[in-house]
Amino acid sequence: MKFNYHAVLYFFLLTVSFTALGQSGVIQAGNVTSASISGQQVNISLENGSAQLSVYTPSVIRVRIDKKQLGADFSYAVIGKPQQVKVDITQNDSQITLVTDSVKAVVQKKPFAITFYTPDRQIINQDETGLNTSWAGESVTSYKKMQEWEHFVGLGEKTGNLDRKGSGFTNWNTDTFGYPATQDPLYSSIPFYIGIHHGLNYGIFLDNTFQTDFNFGASNNRFSSFGARGGELNYYFIYHKKLADIISSYTWLTGRMQMPPLWSLGYQQNRYSYYPDTEVLRIANTLREKRIPADGITLDIHYMENYKLFTWNKNRFPDPEKMNAELNRLGFKTTVIVDPGIKVEKGAGAYERGLTDSVYIKYPDGQPYTGQVWPGWCNFPDFTSVKGREWWKNEVKFFAESGVSGIWNDMNEIATWGQKMPDNVLFDYDGVKANHLQAHNVYGLQMIRASYEGARQHLKERPFLLTRSGYAGLQRYSALWTGDNRAEDDHMLAGVRLLSSLGMSGVAFTGMDIGGFTGNPTTALYTRWMELGAFTPYFRNHTQLNTKSAEPWSFGEDVLDISRSYISLRYQLMPYLYSKFYEATQTGLPVVRSLAINYTHDPRIFDTQFQNQYLFGDAFMVAPFESTKDFGKIYFPAGKWYELYNDEVQQGGQDKIVQLNLSQLPVYIKAGSIIPMQSLVQTTQQLPNDTLTVHVYNGDTPNSFVYYEDDGKSYAYEKGGLYKRTISFNPANKELIFGKAEGTYKTHFKLIKLALHGFDSNAITTSGKKQDVKSVRYFWLAAAANTDPTIGPQQPESCTLKYVVIKNEDSVIKINY
Ligand code: NOJ
Repeated sequence: MKFNYHAVLYFFLLTVSFTALGQSGVIQAGNVTSASISGQQVNISLENGSAQLSVYTPSVIRVRIDKKQLGADFSYAVIGKPQQVKVDITQNDSQITLVTDSVKAVVQKKPFAITFYTPDRQIINQDETGLNTSWAGESVTSYKKMQEWEHFVGLGEKTGNLDRKGSGFTNWNTDTFGYPATQDPLYSSIPFYIGIHHGLNYGIFLDNTFQTDFNFGASNNRFSSFGARGGELNYYFIYHKKLADIISSYTWLTGRMQMPPLWSLGYQQNRYSYYPDTEVLRIANTLREKRIPADGITLDIHYMENYKLFTWNKNRFPDPEKMNAELNRLGFKTTVIVDPGIKVEKGAGAYERGLTDSVYIKYPDGQPYTGQVWPGWCNFPDFTSVKGREWWKNEVKFFAESGVSGIWNDMNEIATWGQKMPDNVLFDYDGVKANHLQAHNVYGLQMIRASYEGARQHLKERPFLLTRSGYAGLQRYSALWTGDNRAEDDHMLAGVRLLSSLGMSGVAFTGMDIGGFTGNPTTALYTRWMELGAFTPYFRNHTQLNTKSAEPWSFGEDVLDISRSYISLRYQLMPYLYSKFYEATQTGLPVVRSLAINYTHDPRIFDTQFQNQYLFGDAFMVAPFESTKDFGKIYFPAGKWYELYNDEVQQGGQDKIVQLNLSQLPVYIKAGSIIPMQSLVQTTQQLPNDTLTVHVYNGDTPNSFVYYEDDGKSYAYEKGGLYKRTISFNPANKELIFGKAEGTYKTHFKLIKLALHGFDSNAITTSGKKQDVKSVRYFWLAAAANTDPTIGPQQPESCTLKYVVIKNEDSVIKINY
């Protein structure tokens, strides 16, 4: 027999590779070996680990799985505690069943696999039979069966399509300067997504701060999956009939935003960087001279001395208190940037104080970790320790003393030059003790927690907080912006989708650098972006070092006029916008609302042609397009839609090609909408006149709007110092009702001007009393330049509406038409 070398070599290699597979292969969770039921919880032993299911609410079930005994319970994200609910847990030889009023979870025992059902036994979500949950090394993954026609939305700050099907994503907070519009990961991690199929929708929140990975059918046609590079597979399954309620449950778990200061909803002017103080004041004065309403000036890193935290560069800003006082007098608030890197410099104040208090993160040998950022070599406070946060909170006093109102938390991924922070840097992790792999994704969250608590302690009024990085729950402390985008059309649109996705992931207060951070926008792009900015929650114009000027007057008179109109419109919409922020504090529903929230089961909204459309609050549908396009296709979901500028009605359930006009952003108003507005002001610190104009758009479906007001700056609202009433539109009875006002705050508005769109009745009564009905030509943008929002000059494109003026009373006001 001839000796076959190849056959022997092949056999040898096969043996070697099998051995290797055995050593580093995949371990399945295996069968359930025992299970014990305890109240609302079931504890399970597995062949290769342990698991636990606990019922938090009838709609929220938590699942924990580990390859060892479950450890102590700790979360930076979750603040919701299990509620006492009706739940029936039983088991037999083959399965364990948990039944609440809203969902049924069935745990198959051989092997361990979970299926979630609706009460009428439709499958909502199920483990992929065969794959279930397994470990590859320290990485744990849960595989779910991909349902037919399943769509996936959310997952926080993620680029890509609205429907995430076919894509995979990683959560690892990353400093991505001038990132491509398809980049992943970006700066923050929110491991929460929503699956949609067969008229059902569910949410999954994987609470694990290691790098997490999600796969929605990328490179496979079998499953969707989520997993982490270490730690427990710890997730919350949320089921509701309505997608909006899933967001509410998720924000019940991870917290909701607090009422922001009113000024932070105004227009903010920024660049990297305005200095010295005379330049800052020149910008502020120019905004006023050119009648561009604005509330904020933001100071980037050049305000510091050699980028050292908690210092002012005294050459550029000799008297910051005086400058901030002058800005305040002009109706501006100052926001300053802070980075976590503290310059290592012997004798430097903050650095030495940090050393004394021993707050810096360290290597295992006790040496502080030193990395390079703007100031050069830096140490970094351990925000995951009480000590580190207390130290920072105390340092924040510095800003309070210089009259600053907002804190902009940057570079908190942590960003360091080289982008390769070592794994063996140690963090306190609030006593749990963790290395960089586990702590990385929560560093930013803990920094904003410290900044928020410090600001709340030292500033007299509600602070504004902005962050670049974060983790699930960041909405409790801060607004978030999407970092260093580019002055390119696809970035403007990718930015819209980022805000939509963040909104579905619990973050209501979001923004992007309007105009683009890197590069110089074309005039057309700048114009479109400014218009769009007026319809985003945090409206800030920002640009990079060494780019051309990007203030609204830098692109010629036409652009200045258009920018002014849209910014003015936003200021008139402030009562609407502030009420929508209030809603976010109560329900977690965002201000930028993807169409997936209200039209979840309409497949057309996922069509990539329409995926950039969104609702601003619940009334306005914004349809953004590239600034280079002359025509655009818009999809009108179910219902009836009024074109903002001329009240032309579009029926829902169809798409339409519209001609685009650079001076008008395509915006439509949903029939039935109620939109309270005020007269034009130049800053939110200025009082509007005493008439609240309430626009109502006729339609067939009833609607209601919770109007909200408070002093806009103090914490009095937390103790009832607010004014709130529900305005209801009931077309079946042809009535509009202003419910009884609640709260101890006195509204400033003495009159209500009802602006009625699409109503033809001339017989309008309030509490049976006939009202004087007037008719007026109205144009939203022209009105924006005047002080009276209902009377604008005649425009070719305008609408005619009826209006009545009534006294604003705290008791119920009933209007019939
Ligand atoms: C990075 C931030 O993303 C950017 O907005 C800022 O201008 C620079 N850091 C400089 O502070």
